[in-house]
Amino acid sequence: VEVVNTDISKKPNELRRIVYEKERYRVLFEMGPVAVYSCDSAGVIDNFNPRAAELWGRAPGPGDTDERFCGSFRLFLPDGTYMPHHECPMAQVVRREVNEVRDQEVVIERPDGSRVTVLVNIRPLIDPEGRVTGAINCFYDITDRKRLEETLRQSRDHFERTVERRTLALRELSSKLMSAQDDERRRISRELHDGLGQYLAQLKMGLAAVKRSSKLEQQDALNDLVDIVEKCCAETRTLSYLLHPPLLEELGLVSAVHWYVEGFIQRSGIKVSLHVPPESQRRLPGSVEILLFRILQESLTNIHRHSNSLLADIRLEIAEEEALLQVTDYGQGFSAELLEDVRSGLARGVGLRGMRERVGEAGGRLEIESDSNGTVVRAIVPLTLVTVV
Ligand SMILES: Nc1ncnc2c1ncn2[C@@H]1O[C@H](COP(=O)(O)OP(=O)(O)O)[C@@H](O)[C@H]1O
Ligand SMILES: [Mg+2]
Repeated sequence: VEVVNTDISKKPNELRRIVYEKERYRVLFEMGPVAVYSCDSAGVIDNFNPRAAELWGRAPGPGDTDERFCGSFRLFLPDGTYMPHHECPMAQVVRREVNEVRDQEVVIERPDGSRVTVLVNIRPLIDPEGRVTGAINCFYDITDRKRLEETLRQSRDHFERTVERRTLALRELSSKLMSAQDDERRRISRELHDGLGQYLAQLKMGLAAVKRSSKLEQQDALNDLVDIVEKCCAETRTLSYLLHPPLLEELGLVSAVHWYVEGFIQRSGIKVSLHVPPESQRRLPGSVEILLFRILQESLTNIHRHSNSLLADIRLEIAEEEALLQVTDYGQGFSAELLEDVRSGLARGVGLRGMRERVGEAGGRLEIESDSNGTVVRAIVPLTLVTVV
């Protein structure tokens, strides 16, 4: 003691510096926003700051040997498992089971039952001989952050579930609309053919009879009328067949495609070549035939309306396991942006989107390739599935 006293008395400035340093740390300890406490090598808490007592919801008595390693009432792991004090991170550091702890998540329960989540940081206190004399623990409250994360996670889950439900509902609706459209077309087609078509046929016969018994000066006018009625008959029949080709059900896809392509060439002036290998001339399930026929119709209509191509090629290949319909044009193609939208199903038009959905429903896929040299639309439909369209 003498020596020390003499030593310090020799350096009064040094003593003042030490006291000043200690005071600075004490203020930091008392006022800092982080909770801090220390314990000795037996786990007895020897020091804690007000923030620590606040987070614990209690202040351990000085030198209390009943509750070691941590001043909290009870501790839990983030998953809610109970953690006895002698297994807490502080105890592990003091026993040298771990070197130190950084930002480990722990849940503190206060005596009033409220809980806070904290991140703990622990370093051992080691004397000059290398013995652990205790440990110091700095921990801070992240309860608000955790709560926010949880709310965010829940609302994201909720959002995703809602989007999923809506998407499903939309898909169901669009599928119903498409089959309703098919039914409606079939109905109108039949009305045109059986109703209007029959009246027109009677009108034609009536006119022919009138013509036979009429005066010469009326013949020219009556001939004109017969011409007009014949055109009406032809248009009614075409319209009826376009809406729902009866050939499709009677003679099958290949015949219906031949018939449709011929009519298309006449109406549009576009040269179309049709390749159907002989081994592909067989009947398919009705739902697949109507599906492929509608895709052909839409593709040719698109070529006429959008591509500016004067040529188109169609390939129809029916193999054992799948059917392929490929429609190629040599026109201006899609813009890259539109192609992206069409591929992801975001494009405004309903034609390609409808095709994609129908093909998807049948378990197949629709491929679209397009650049400034033209466009290829390819539908591949499996024949092994029982499909309902
Ligand atoms: N063969 C094609 N060549 C160039 N552009 C095309 C072709 N087919 C479709 N498109 C483009 O894709 C768009 C979407 O087509 P679609 O879904 O059939 O809708 P719609 O024909 O009613 O516009 C068209 O508006 C057109 O811009
Ligand atoms: Mg279209």
